[in-house]
Amino acid sequence: MKIADSTVLVTGANRGIGKALVEEALRRGAKRIYAGARQAYAHADRRVTPLILDITDAERIRAAVEKVDALDILINNAGISVQNDLSDRAALERLLAVNLFGTYDVTQAFLPVLTRSRTAIVNILSLASIAAVPFDPLYSISKAAPFSLSQSLRALLAGKGVSVHIVLPGPIDTDMTRGLDIPKASPESTARAIFDGVEKGEEEIFPDPMSEAIAEGWRNSALKELERQFAAYVDQTPVKSKAQ
Ligand SMILES: NC(=O)c1ccc[n+]([C@@H]2O[C@H](COP(=O)([O-])OP(=O)(O)OC[C@H]3O[C@@H](n4cnc5c(N)ncnc54)[C@H](OP(=O)(O)O)[C@@H]3O)[C@@H](O)[C@H]2O)c1
Repeated sequence: MKIADSTVLVTGANRGIGKALVEEALRRGAKRIYAGARQAYAHADRRVTPLILDITDAERIRAAVEKVDALDILINNAGISVQNDLSDRAALERLLAVNLFGTYDVTQAFLPVLTRSRTAIVNILSLASIAAVPFDPLYSISKAAPFSLSQSLRALLAGKGVSVHIVLPGPIDTDMTRGLDIPKASPESTARAIFDGVEKGEEEIFPDPMSEAIAEGWRNSALKELERQFAAYVDQTPVKSKAQ
């Protein structure tokens, strides 16, 4: 998958990692970038097409799909983090509405466009997807569920030419981590590492120094091996030949 000449859609494109992904896709020669944002959004580069897209709003998602004729890379980046503790069920629902159901709904809605050719789905998850961060337990739950979703999508869509990339960042210097006094990577270096990983076909992308430290261990882990074993059960016969 090359970024040059591709058509990319980024959700949550107006700030943070999403904004950096838009700039990096432009730098790498993307043909067209659909920049999803909840509010009106403008960009000086004519290759950027703003899309009003609240990923929790079914009507907005439907309207966005109608505006996109072709798509090579869908980047599910939009996400939230809210102050929470484990007893706060309402906070969990708010987190799941965006981080799980928003990602799920956008992906399902764009699948018909994505399965027309060789394409990629890139889900921006978190190290908290694979190991709960106990001071942020509900965010961890809301990022673990789309990890499972992404693994299933990967196996189910492989036969249709759609690759699924899971991005597992550590702390990145955006509004989301403003109150955290720990070393953070820049959104720009994170965006570069994400597209490098997509171009190299990496299934899991570890885009910053903290996450990079566990990359090799993850790729050789029993969990990764188990994912491959489960995926092998999926009938990957292309739909076309099944119909014959
Ligand atoms: N920063 C980190 O350390 C870190 C680490 C691991 C993973 N991540 C993940 O990386 C992704 C981007 O995070 P970030 O750090 O760039 O955060 P951020 O600066 O807070 O930006 C979040 C983006 O998501 C958008 N968004 C939130 N709810 C939305 C909705 N319902 N519909 C559409 N867009 C929505 C926001 O739009 P508005 O401006 O309209 O609110 C904003 O563009 C998230 O999925 C996050 O969980 C971040």
